[in-house]
Amino acid sequence: MITPIQGFSKLTKEEKINWITENYTKNSAHTKEVLKVYWNSDTKLQKLHDEFIENTISNYYLPLGIAPNFLINNKLYAVPMAIEESSVVAAASKAAKFWLSRGGFKTTILGTEKVGQVHFIFKGDSKKLESFFNSIKPLLISDSNELTTSMKKRGGGISKIELRNKTADLANYYQLHCTFETLDAMGANFINSCLEQFAITLKREALLYSDFSNTEKNIEVVMSILSNYVPNCIVRAEVSCKVEELNEDANIKSSQLAEKLVQAVTIAKVEPYRAVTHNKGIMNGIDSVILATGNDFRAIEAGIHAYASRNGAYSSLTDASIENGIFRFWIDIPLALGTVGGLTNLHPLVKVALEILQKPSAKELMQIVAATGLAQNFAALRSLVTTGIQEGHMKMHLLNILNQLGATDKEKQLLTTHFKTNTVTHSAVVTAYNNLKND
Ligand code: MEV
Repeated sequence: MITPIQGFSKLTKEEKINWITENYTKNSAHTKEVLKVYWNSDTKLQKLHDEFIENTISNYYLPLGIAPNFLINNKLYAVPMAIEESSVVAAASKAAKFWLSRGGFKTTILGTEKVGQVHFIFKGDSKKLESFFNSIKPLLISDSNELTTSMKKRGGGISKIELRNKTADLANYYQLHCTFETLDAMGANFINSCLEQFAITLKREALLYSDFSNTEKNIEVVMSILSNYVPNCIVRAEVSCKVEELNEDANIKSSQLAEKLVQAVTIAKVEPYRAVTHNKGIMNGIDSVILATGNDFRAIEAGIHAYASRNGAYSSLTDASIENGIFRFWIDIPLALGTVGGLTNLHPLVKVALEILQKPSAKELMQIVAATGLAQNFAALRSLVTTGIQEGHMKMHLLNILNQLGATDKEKQLLTTHFKTNTVTHSAVVTAYNNLKND
């Protein structure tokens, strides 16, 4: 029987591995071997990875791929993508190449505002709270001077501190709703430090405020934390071309393709079941660049899906139109990204990814990420409304199936040729593989 363990984090790496493999796996020796195969032979590099988190036992690999030919605001990028799903990089590359000859992607930053909140309980007269807040506002700013000096020097800092009365939603609940400019940093540490300082000032000054009753003086701070919902940290990416230039496929007329693409987007706008999958396809592109560049994909995911629901129902993140013979396809998306700080200075592959992107600013990275998401959605929709998704997917999936079967390079080559003219299904691949083996 497995019993709980005390002090797991204090064990050495080797001891942790012994404990986990002996208690939770059938063949401890084999599991240990698998875990160790993924250790880096460079001990310094391995130590760096070990120390990213607690209780590290191995490294978890994802492929890092490149989608070249992304023309964004007339600059050519090769986009690094870290992802396991077989068809994603191919789809992004295909869409990038398609738009390369049609003017590329045009992107615009619509805002860079980050948000954080001090959530607190105040039992008393909200008018008095308002006067108190106005009187301590300069102190809230000056008390955090030490934290904000270097950010201010670079042109960022605290943009605004507002008192928000949320008592209609929850009794006695108020917030300091604060906005920040964090430039090339994602800014989580900066924002959280400022917020925690605001909370200290708020509590301290309330105790001294003579207009407050004793109850009112006791402001109860529940928590101080940044918000990953950043509806004013937005980038727009778009592509457009004449409708007659949209098609490369003789099986469908350009005008028909344009209309089907618009219909597909319209369905995702009104039908949440479809919108979720539609947006998932966009996230295939977005998450993989976010991961490759060492950004926080959970924060980005949470913020984007909240934004997709901003009008009360979950809806498409992309939009499409046909006007005066022009097909236009675009995305507005919230992205709080960093190109300095965090993993960006630590992870050697993240540094390489950022170098490949020509060391972008956070704003430039927002534009690259948005364009990749848009490209991914375009590729998915074009397949969905023409051939169907499985044709492309299964071709890419073929290699995964062959790897699972243990095919050699020669066998993979022969079977890839065979499936150029045959439909890929799991059972067809297994049969073809077995036939080849028995030949
Ligand atoms: C698969 O990872 C993504 C798609 O399902 C996206 C979509 O349906 O739009 C192909």
